[in-house]
Amino acid sequence: MEIVKWPFLKQDWGIEFESSKGAYLYTKDGRKVLDAAGGAIVSNIGYGREEVADAIARAVKNNSYILPPFLTPEREALLDELREHWLPPHLSRIHLSSGGSEANESAVKLAIQYQNSRGKPKKNIILTRSLSYHGTTLNMSGISGHQARKRGLESYVPEPITIETPYPLRCPLGKYHPDAKDYYLDDLKKTIKRLGANNIAALLMEPINGSSGGAISPPDGYWIEAQEILRANDILLIADEVMTGFGRVGYDFASNLYDIEPDILIAGKGMGGGYAAIGGTYSTDKIADSIQEAGYEVMFHTFAALPQSCAASTEVLRILREEKLCEKVNPLGENILQNLNSEIGQHPNVAEVRGKGLLIGIEIVEDKASLKPFDESKKITGQIMQKGLEMGVFLYPGGTGTYRDIICLGPAFTIGDEEIELMVKVLRDSINTVVQNN
Ligand SMILES: Cc1ncc(COP(=O)(O)O)c(C=O)c1O
Repeated sequence: MEIVKWPFLKQDWGIEFESSKGAYLYTKDGRKVLDAAGGAIVSNIGYGREEVADAIARAVKNNSYILPPFLTPEREALLDELREHWLPPHLSRIHLSSGGSEANESAVKLAIQYQNSRGKPKKNIILTRSLSYHGTTLNMSGISGHQARKRGLESYVPEPITIETPYPLRCPLGKYHPDAKDYYLDDLKKTIKRLGANNIAALLMEPINGSSGGAISPPDGYWIEAQEILRANDILLIADEVMTGFGRVGYDFASNLYDIEPDILIAGKGMGGGYAAIGGTYSTDKIADSIQEAGYEVMFHTFAALPQSCAASTEVLRILREEKLCEKVNPLGENILQNLNSEIGQHPNVAEVRGKGLLIGIEIVEDKASLKPFDESKKITGQIMQKGLEMGVFLYPGGTGTYRDIICLGPAFTIGDEEIELMVKVLRDSINTVVQNN
C-alpha cells in the first residue's frame, strides 16, 4: 500500500523545499524559487534573519514555557513594542494566541461575552461577509464566506449570516458603478433591519479581502459610513487584519487606511512574519472592563504568548520599524501593479489586476467582457500555481465559490526590481500557458 507521507491528503506538487533565505525558497534538487506570496502572505521581512533566530534562542534558554497569564520579560517586550509603536491608542487590551483562527475565535467570544455582560444575551449574531475568510476552526469555517474551505462540513458548521462583500468589479449595478458604495451600504442597512439590531453582536470583516477574494478593496468611503451605521445600531466592528496588518497594505493596519476605529482588531501572519506561531486580539478597555465586571473568564490557549513566539514577534516588528520596511510597501506595490498592468492588464483572460500595498490580486476569467469564470473542473488557479513553480516563482492561489480563479501576490517588503521583474514575467507566462491549454 502506498504511504501518503505529507500532507494529510495526497498531493503532488513535484517539489520539496530544503531551506529559505530572503525572498527565495531553495528546493531539495537545487533549484531556487522566488516566493511571490511570502508563503501565505506571512513573510513580511523575508526568510532567515539571524537576529530573529538569536532572539528565539535567547527566549527558549531563558523561559521555554510559562503559563500565558504571567508576565515575563519576553511578553513585556512585545506588549511594549505593540503599544508604543503599532496599535491604535484606543485598543489598549491585548490577548495573544497561536494564530489567526484562534485570534478570531477570541474576538467573537469577547463580542458575545461583552453583549452578555451588558445584559443583552439576544445580541448574539456575528455578521460576516459573503466573500470572506476568518480561519479554519469549526466556527470560523462556518461563519466565513469561503465555500471551498468548508466542503463536506456544511451539515455541521453554522450557516454564515452575511452582508454582501463590496466587490466593485462585480457590483450588481455594473462594473465600478458610481452608486456601488450606496448599494453595498444599503445591503448592510437592510440586513440590520431584517435581523434586528437587538439581535446582532458584531460585524466581523476583513477591511480588504484576503485569499477569498484576492485583495478586493471596497468603494471609497464605504468603511467609514459602514462604521457609522454599526455605531448607530449598537453593533461592534471587528476588523480581521490577519492578512492586512503590520504594514502589508502600506499602513500599520488597513483600519488606518480607511480611518476607522474597530472595537476589536485581530492580527496574525505578519505579526510574527513566519518566525512565530502568534496571533493577537486587541480590544478597548470598555469591552474588557464590562466582561471583567460580569465575572466572565477569558481563557488562554496553552501555547498562547510562548516566550519564544513573543521574542520572535518583537524582533520582527523591530526590524520592520528600524529598517523602515513599511515605508517601502506602497512604492513597491505601485511598481508591481504598474508592471502587471503593462504586461497583462489587457490580457483577454485577466479581469483585473488590483490591490493595496503588497497585497495584490489578479482575477482570471474565461471572458473578460462578461467576466465569466472558467469551469470549476479546470482548476485554473491550481494549474497557474503549478506552472509558476516550474518556472521558479511561487504564486498563491486565492478565490472561492463562483469567483475562484484569483492569484494573490504578497511578497516580502524587502524584494527588489529584479524579483519584481521575474514575478511579473513568470505570472504572465504561466497564465498564457495555462489558458492556451484550456
Ligand atoms: C483574513 C484572515 N483571517 C484569518 C486567517 C486564519 O489564520 P490562521 O491560518 O493563522 O489560523 C487567515 C489565514 O489565511 C486570514 O487570511
